[in-house]
Amino acid sequence: MSGNLLREGLDSVRATMRRDRVFDFMLPADNPRLDISHNTLLYLEDVSVSFDGFRAINNLNLYIDDGELRCIIGPNGAGKTTMMDIITGKTRPDSGTVYFGQRINLLKLSEPEIARAGIGRKFQKPTVFENLSVMENLELAMAGEKGVWRTFRARLDAAANERIDEVLELIGLVSERRRSAGVLSHGQKQWLEIGMLLMQRPRLLLVDEPVAGMTHQEMDRTAELLTSLAGDHSVVVVEHDMEFVRSIARKVTVLHQGSVLAEGSMDEVQNDPKVVEVYLGGD
Ligand SMILES: Nc1ncnc2c1ncn2[C@@H]1O[C@H](COP(=O)(O)OP(=O)(O)OP(=O)(O)O)[C@@H](O)[C@H]1O
Ligand SMILES: [Mg+2]
Repeated sequence: MSGNLLREGLDSVRATMRRDRVFDFMLPADNPRLDISHNTLLYLEDVSVSFDGFRAINNLNLYIDDGELRCIIGPNGAGKTTMMDIITGKTRPDSGTVYFGQRINLLKLSEPEIARAGIGRKFQKPTVFENLSVMENLELAMAGEKGVWRTFRARLDAAANERIDEVLELIGLVSERRRSAGVLSHGQKQWLEIGMLLMQRPRLLLVDEPVAGMTHQEMDRTAELLTSLAGDHSVVVVEHDMEFVRSIARKVTVLHQGSVLAEGSMDEVQNDPKVVEVYLGGD
């Protein structure tokens, strides 16, 4: 390595080590390309996908505002999970467009690129590392993508610990921080997994059936958590438990046969004859 190169290398290391330097990965996942000047964070337009000739998603149009909490309901097989698969790049639609803000075409990005752009997804089954402590799980979630993390580990610890503390507070696991994830209750594991997503500072959080298997108390706590995340994040919650949905609902979208059947407040959609028919009429 030439002297100049070495000096440049050292300078950049020093710049990175400066106390007042804010590390990129500590910033909100504010993708500079993310344009939300129209206040809409996510656009799905005319999206369709078929599996073996069956249209699971059928000309779906869905718009999620920046910072909103949206509940998505609908009978089994309505296409709710498939919709999330499309947003996260797991399933590619046959037609239609999917944009993150005005400019980021999600159909052109890979699954990891979509995650890095600021979209986090929580699956139904918690996937925490049972043998690691709560804190270690969060630390690992942060380290995930970032090579720089390992390089400047010592210096980063302070900033990382601050974020871990913040997230522990949010998910209500401060006093469980040193316990191994394996001994947590089902609800606590779910919150830890949401915390792991939060370590990456997603702009959009997709949560599929978060309260399945939870006690009433855990459900109340989850309602508080998801409600508190809205504002800083947009949160899309798919859930069958209507009592839970009612407790957090602002705007509710009813999916049926891969399309939007109704949209509005919980009262509006529950009194919509089309919705009543789908839920009670059988089809
Ligand atoms: N990869 C796949 N291959 C074949 N069919 C699929 C695939 N993914 C989903 N489907 C079908 O698409 C339809 C929509 O499924 P999806 O899982 O999106 O429904 P859902 O609304 O999430 O239902 P639930 O409330 O039961 O979770 C179902 O008929 C399902 O069998
Ligand atoms: Mg589903």
